[in-house]
Amino acid sequence: MNAYALRRKRLLALMEPGGVAVLPTAPEVARNSDSDYLYRHDSHFYYLTGFTEPEALLVLVAARGDDPAQAILFCREKNAEREIWDGYRHGPEAARAAFGFDSAHPVAALDTEMARLLANAPALYAPQGGGARLAQLDSRIQGWLDAVRGQSRSGVTAPETRHNVLPLIDEMRLIKDEGEQATMLRAATISGQAHARAMRASRPGMHEYEIEAELLYEFRRNGAQAPAYNSIVASGANACVLHYNANNAQTRDGDLVLIDAGCELDGYASDITRTYPVNGRFSAPQRELYELVLAAQAAALQAIRPGQPYQSVHDAAVRVLVQGMLDLGLLDKNKHASVDDVIANKSYTQFYMHGTGHWLGMDVHDVGLYRDVQAAGKPSRPLEPGMVLTVEPGIYVRPAEGVPEQYWNIGIRIEDDVLVTATGHTILSAAAPKTVAEIEHLMRQP
Ligand code: GLY
Ligand code: MN
Ligand code: MN
Repeated sequence: MNAYALRRKRLLALMEPGGVAVLPTAPEVARNSDSDYLYRHDSHFYYLTGFTEPEALLVLVAARGDDPAQAILFCREKNAEREIWDGYRHGPEAARAAFGFDSAHPVAALDTEMARLLANAPALYAPQGGGARLAQLDSRIQGWLDAVRGQSRSGVTAPETRHNVLPLIDEMRLIKDEGEQATMLRAATISGQAHARAMRASRPGMHEYEIEAELLYEFRRNGAQAPAYNSIVASGANACVLHYNANNAQTRDGDLVLIDAGCELDGYASDITRTYPVNGRFSAPQRELYELVLAAQAAALQAIRPGQPYQSVHDAAVRVLVQGMLDLGLLDKNKHASVDDVIANKSYTQFYMHGTGHWLGMDVHDVGLYRDVQAAGKPSRPLEPGMVLTVEPGIYVRPAEGVPEQYWNIGIRIEDDVLVTATGHTILSAAAPKTVAEIEHLMRQP
């Protein structure tokens, strides 16, 4: 059984007998005039199908009594004219055979088929949440339910309950299977090589976009379909703007460059940040802050093994950063009695104002809960083998009174992608140079 069929089977096992789940893929989105954005499927839909064409829906019907479970695809029909313009479409029959569905229908038959499939079904499972896209699905579902209710005189019943199908899939997606782990390692390796390429190509005076071009080149030439998110190439003070992505400034001798960029490969994201001197040599203040962030990351990585609470990764990074802020004079030792004081009063957030990571998978900020919402007090959930998270401490020093001037406008983040294993963890993004020695050595090469 292929991985997608296996996932469908696992989801079907979580549904009420006879329940019907419906899951659409993402719509095509116009950019302007006749141009669309590069099409990207919906992650939940892809997780259960492997099917990347637009205008498609998956319907699952859970087994009940003698009726077996069914996985049904709705997709575009073959269309000789459209295929001349837009390329190959599977069409229902070829899609059914290639992707292992029990049946497949043209998407134009959706309303008729759904009215039939939902007749006498006890429960409907559909995505729920805000957003225009789901509002459209909701009105469509309403139409199907009205059609079923219209048959009530012949004894037909409509589903009594409606469940949000997404949390069931989210929990499955949080634990990556072997195939997913292999794809994520490959994605992170391509991105790591792209960071190395960008470092190697960098020279003072280059524009941030020239450096960005090196990343994109390496992504695409290795088969990655797209960046997983807008690349950040931030030189000098721009590195202190957390979501900077204008990428249009000219670098200056003595600047650090912060690059936060990762490719998406076969539906899986990578997410790497490296910070390096554009001239190839860290200045003393740059090196002091860099070594501090690196030590914070090492402490956070140490906390990653099965059973450890997710929150402990952030806590470990913060503790090291705060000690460093006090030692380097970013925070005044005379005003703060101890590391614990600074942690309690959160004054470190002047220089470190984001979390230390997030789940990573098909989405760069991937699905899955961070807390055990069933337990009293909703504690941070323990890490489990197969989870993938980023570890991305940083420090961002904006000019301010009382802050030593040699650190002004330095922004540093170091971000890796980490798989939790049975015995600890594996860094998937190890291809990106990270220590001061590694970076300076690489940048000395002609
Ligand atoms: N690149 C997005 C993030 O680091 O969360
Ligand atoms: Mn990240
Ligand atoms: Mn990132």
